[in-house]
Amino acid sequence: MKQEKDPAFVQFTGIEKRFGKVVAVKKMDLKIPEGSLVTLLGPSGCGKTTLLRMLAGLESPTLGDIYIKGKRINDTPIHKRNLGMIFQNYALFPHKTISDNVAFGLKYRNISKAIIQEKVETALETVRLPGVGDRMPSQLSGGQQQRIALARAIVIEPDVLLMDEPLSALDENLREDMRREIDNLQQDLGVTTIFVTHDQREALSMSDKVVVMKDGFIQQQGTPEEVYNNSTNHFVADFLGHSNFLDALVDEKQGDLLGVTLDDKTHCLAVPAGAFNKGDKVEMVIRAQKFILDYRAEYLPEPGENVFFGKIVDRSYMGGEVSYFVELENKLVLHAINFVKRSPYRRGDEVAMKVSQKNCRLLKV
Ligand SMILES: Nc1ncnc2c1ncn2[C@@H]1O[C@H](COP(=O)(O)OP(=O)(O)O)[C@@H](O)[C@H]1O
Ligand SMILES: [Mg+2]
Repeated sequence: MKQEKDPAFVQFTGIEKRFGKVVAVKKMDLKIPEGSLVTLLGPSGCGKTTLLRMLAGLESPTLGDIYIKGKRINDTPIHKRNLGMIFQNYALFPHKTISDNVAFGLKYRNISKAIIQEKVETALETVRLPGVGDRMPSQLSGGQQQRIALARAIVIEPDVLLMDEPLSALDENLREDMRREIDNLQQDLGVTTIFVTHDQREALSMSDKVVVMKDGFIQQQGTPEEVYNNSTNHFVADFLGHSNFLDALVDEKQGDLLGVTLDDKTHCLAVPAGAFNKGDKVEMVIRAQKFILDYRAEYLPEPGENVFFGKIVDRSYMGGEVSYFVELENKLVLHAINFVKRSPYRRGDEVAMKVSQKNCRLLKV
């Protein structure tokens, strides 16, 4: 019988970390499912590294408990936690060979040289760099060195792999390759992985679960689709992708949708992300990619759609996509992103911005 995966393979309960007056992580509860890749996503200073360092044993929590496989590890020393770690400055030992670098975590494990050798070679094959064991780190490129750091982390067969912005020192193209490689490797090995990043595209592209953080708090957690499409607050909607925010007033209920009145007295139907009453002030959020533009003169109303009329005041080509800024009659400027193919519009054009009602979401203010 296949064993059920533990939904709380790693668990933080009421975890808090203070540095003097600074509260880096605030009363946080978080479960990391076995075998999953979970990213901690948030702006610089939100507590991502601190959370990871507490799990690693490099910081001790001010309050709360940390469990791995159900065992409380607050007092377990670093080297007994069986964690693989990779950090931004992958920090290979410059004067040791690649083999010695990779073998580092095995040295104190009481295993024979022959087995160590075998494990090192397997790890190098796993990161697709077989045969480089005798070289020195300086003889490898940045991307290759990062893969060696990965080999060093997985060679010990860790219970959890911790990665703190491991790709931020690499250039964009290489980063994309490495993202895919880490993702594939993680799935092949099935190792529970916590990946820290401030890059939303990185988080959305590789995670089973994204934990969005701000100021030491979890703002929202869920699959990439959930946090992107169903952002539950302004911060998350704003941090992930390009969002438009419009002030609105709730005025009626229509099935699953709510009717709202906007500042310019126009009326829209939208999906409530929460419970609202008539008269509540809300914020309507619309992703830039969800608008479809038409020439205003050619616009035909469709059921289930909201529409905004305005004039294109700015346009920028982004290779594959075009970004438009459209000024409405009340001077509000909305941002739309359309594929180049359906984008003949120029600055000054009068357009209709169509958006499905289900892609208009109402948030608490
Ligand atoms: N050793 C420390 N001493 C004092 N303050 C710290 C220390 N480490 C982190 N902090 C503070 O804790 C907060 C969270 O930091 P950090 O966990 O590094 O955030 P992130 O990794 O999300 O950028 C920041 O305000 C930071 O300045
Ligand atoms: Mg950090």
